[in-house]
Amino acid sequence: MELKVVSGNISEFSADAIMVNIFEGIEYPTGAMAAVDEALDNTITQLINDGEIKGKLNEVTLIHTMGKMPAARIAIIGLGKQQELTLEKVRGATATGCQQLKKIKLEKIATVAHGAGVGQLDNEKVGQSIAEGAILGLYHFNKYLAPDLESREIKELSIVEWDEEKIPSLERGCNRGKIIAEATNFARDMVNEPSNTMTPSRMAETASEMAKVYGLKCTILNKKQISQMGMGALLGVAQGSHQEPKLIVLNYEGDSTSKTALGLVGKGITFDSGGISIKPSKDMWEMKGDMAGAAAVISTMKAIADLKPKINVTALVPATENLPGGGALKPGDILKAMNNKTIEVDNTDAEGRLILADALCYARKLELSPIVDVATLTGACVIALGDKCCGILGNNQELIDKVRQASDDAGECIWQLPMIPEYGEQIKSDVADIKNVGGRAAGTITAAQFLEAFVSGTPWAHIDIAGPSLYRETKTYRIKGATGIAVRTLTNLILTLAEKGD
Ligand code: BES
Ligand code: ZN
Ligand code: ZN
Repeated sequence: MELKVVSGNISEFSADAIMVNIFEGIEYPTGAMAAVDEALDNTITQLINDGEIKGKLNEVTLIHTMGKMPAARIAIIGLGKQQELTLEKVRGATATGCQQLKKIKLEKIATVAHGAGVGQLDNEKVGQSIAEGAILGLYHFNKYLAPDLESREIKELSIVEWDEEKIPSLERGCNRGKIIAEATNFARDMVNEPSNTMTPSRMAETASEMAKVYGLKCTILNKKQISQMGMGALLGVAQGSHQEPKLIVLNYEGDSTSKTALGLVGKGITFDSGGISIKPSKDMWEMKGDMAGAAAVISTMKAIADLKPKINVTALVPATENLPGGGALKPGDILKAMNNKTIEVDNTDAEGRLILADALCYARKLELSPIVDVATLTGACVIALGDKCCGILGNNQELIDKVRQASDDAGECIWQLPMIPEYGEQIKSDVADIKNVGGRAAGTITAAQFLEAFVSGTPWAHIDIAGPSLYRETKTYRIKGATGIAVRTLTNLILTLAEKGD
């Protein structure tokens, strides 16, 4: 889909449909809608009076213009109450509008900058939100379906703005939104891919192909190199599978004056069967998405390679399957991580923290700081916060606050959980330095405390995305299946860290 910002009057724009908006409770059309209403002999006023158009959030009313305007149809999108308008609602309403117009096979559509006028939202952010809503909302994973010859894709979306002064900021926002949304869809594609194709090797290839296109440095460590580095925990998880583990390293250098780099670490379990501590088969297929953290950090690197902020970032992805093969890790086994800490494996299904332990040690060796890891780590987080909100924990409140601020702006929900020191007792082992599980109680907290043992003091935040990595139903721009969660938060975080120069 081609996205552009055009200066002009939307009522004079020629397209298959133009999208205008209406707030709930408004008695007559204002702004761009007033001109449209006039051209349509007050049809919209009539529909409002008849109670057919209410302006409720995500309501879509389609009117044929019957030659009275250059555009063949008007789609009137409800934005809810004017005082309650947010960028998140702009994203959702844009997505809903685009989805409806795609359904009736329209190819060339246009929209006003919802909320930038009377809605009083920031112009640039509105441009970004419209691009995000449209691109994320029109996503679908149809790679393995027979081609649907009946369906049509929207080919062109123009944001039409009459105020010339607003054009440059709308364009900036629109361009940023496009890059971020496409990176999110890149993550969705990786996560939706089944585990028989998205193996650790395929994930490494995906990362290195992307790196080549965007001019990033990419290094892939193979099993032998992983072993030479002393990553016994990652190797331990990998030993039950025929797939070779990989450690993917991506470097973005945007600030040659600085020696420090932000570290991103993503859990890359391409399938989590649980291993010998095998999971129940019901819904086990969802564990093809246990590499959503990996997909999020690889895709964030794609976005920033395009946006070019002044900052250095290194992404690390430990990638392996967790299977119960003949050589598999067993409960009671003891592994040695890269920092020489020994780990008693009490449950082979707590594998994410094992592979992350080695990746975090490696991040320390590369002197990355701060470190943010993203992982589908615990079912306990889904119990605590549901599937609409991620958990965040860490050892540095300032960093956590920055991530939370970035997530608020992105429209991704992240809630902080406490690192209650007493609970650390639960992961003490009698036979090794640490144990990989701490019982059912406070499972997300003890998982984070396990990771903390491998960052040794570096400012670090851990985002548990187990819930929101997958949606069970489509809701506006959040499409059923992989969500690409955390790409927008991480990208926002990096842009703000770069702006502030810290
Ligand atoms: N990949 C799972 C966590 C998960 C659960 C992700 C649900 C997405 C949705 C993780 O490896 C796991 O199995 N964790 C165990 C830990 C337990 C054995 C301490 C869990 O949460 O049950
Ligand atoms: Zn597991
Ligand atoms: Zn897992």
